[in-house]
Amino acid sequence: MKVLSVVGARPQFIKLAPVSRYLRTRHQEVLVHTGQHYDNNLSDIFFQQLHIPAPDYHLGVGSGPQGRQTGEMLIALEEIVAWERPDWVIVYGDTNSTLAGALVASKSHIPLLHIEAGLRSFNRRMPEEINRIVTDHLSTLLCCPTATAVANLAREGIVEGVHHTGDVMYDAVLHNADLARRESAILAELGCQPGGYVLVTVHRAENTDDPARLGGIVVALNALTEPVVLPLHPRTRKAAAQAGLAFGPGVRVIAPVSYLDMLALEMHARLILTDSGGVQKEAYFLGVPCVTLRDETEWVETVAAGWNVLVGTDAARIVEAARTFCPQGERPAYFGNGNAHRVIVELLDKGV
Ligand code: UD1
Ligand code: UDP
Repeated sequence: MKVLSVVGARPQFIKLAPVSRYLRTRHQEVLVHTGQHYDNNLSDIFFQQLHIPAPDYHLGVGSGPQGRQTGEMLIALEEIVAWERPDWVIVYGDTNSTLAGALVASKSHIPLLHIEAGLRSFNRRMPEEINRIVTDHLSTLLCCPTATAVANLAREGIVEGVHHTGDVMYDAVLHNADLARRESAILAELGCQPGGYVLVTVHRAENTDDPARLGGIVVALNALTEPVVLPLHPRTRKAAAQAGLAFGPGVRVIAPVSYLDMLALEMHARLILTDSGGVQKEAYFLGVPCVTLRDETEWVETVAAGWNVLVGTDAARIVEAARTFCPQGERPAYFGNGNAHRVIVELLDKGV
């Protein structure tokens, strides 16, 4: 069978890795990189470190407004799908690359498999929420990481082709955590002690594109009394500069890091502050308390289990949570058993 996989942004390379590795043992994969992310440390570094084969097509779309970025992907993808005539198209998550892949597959009458189906924030101001809703409604096979995702789809009337497979990001962490422990030298390079720093990531549009929200986050980080490590997404770097916001001396601002370095930073952090979906989950997998700089989350299980707390972007709330949030309870296996990639490929084998 010929399967065309469409990816374009950092978290999609990480999700792709375990699926692609297994998929290629039994099917032909044609890999398309839309070029949504293009900096070395948002793209190529993941292909090298996770041994993902080079893309068969690189669309080089780059950054731009939502419509233009998605539109350029549609134009290029339509031609590729017409030429390749794959049996299936696979898309991951909720980015503009996901949406473009989904639209082209369905309009070309190619069955579509969505990995990370059924997630909802119930906030339609997020571009990702629009991308997810449209993609799910176009998908033939919907691979849900959690039971909540299955229920979200049922509420929208989507029940056919829905499978509770577990989360491929959990598979990726299981596959790479020991490697990160052995091979990453990032703590030594930064002069950080295990348990002696707070790890922060911020890149969500609702935070970067609103100077008041970004300002709240920057004020909070500058007020923390522990060392802060901040691998900074270029979007946030640009937005902070534009808003005239400066990080204080206690905040170690570094370029985005590789996946193994990120896992090492996460597993040794005393606490994680983030607005990232993937980082919230990884904090949970690794048993690190997570304070989420958003008003809602798609990963409600992490909050229900008591390991994640939503604080928004009010500086005082963030500082208070960073000081006091100290979860201790169990972390139930809401995200599967590390076999999601196998379950997904085996569904494809059966064509169900
Ligand atoms: C995108 C996804 C988001 C995902 C994130 C993962 C959408 C709508 N958003 O957000 O869901 O969580 O990726 O990181 O698809 N930039 C660079 N170099 C790059 C890429 C981007 O400098 O290699 C800068 C550009 O200024 C660009 C900005 O970052 O305008 C935003 O990039 P974009 O891909 O549009 O969205 P992300 O915020 O990365
Ligand atoms: N990540 C990384 N280096 C970094 C920041 C994040 O490798 O400097 C990884 C992180 O471990 C997780 C994924 O990128 O696996 C999350 O991606 P991101 O936060 O960009 O997007 P989201 O998950 O919010 O869509």
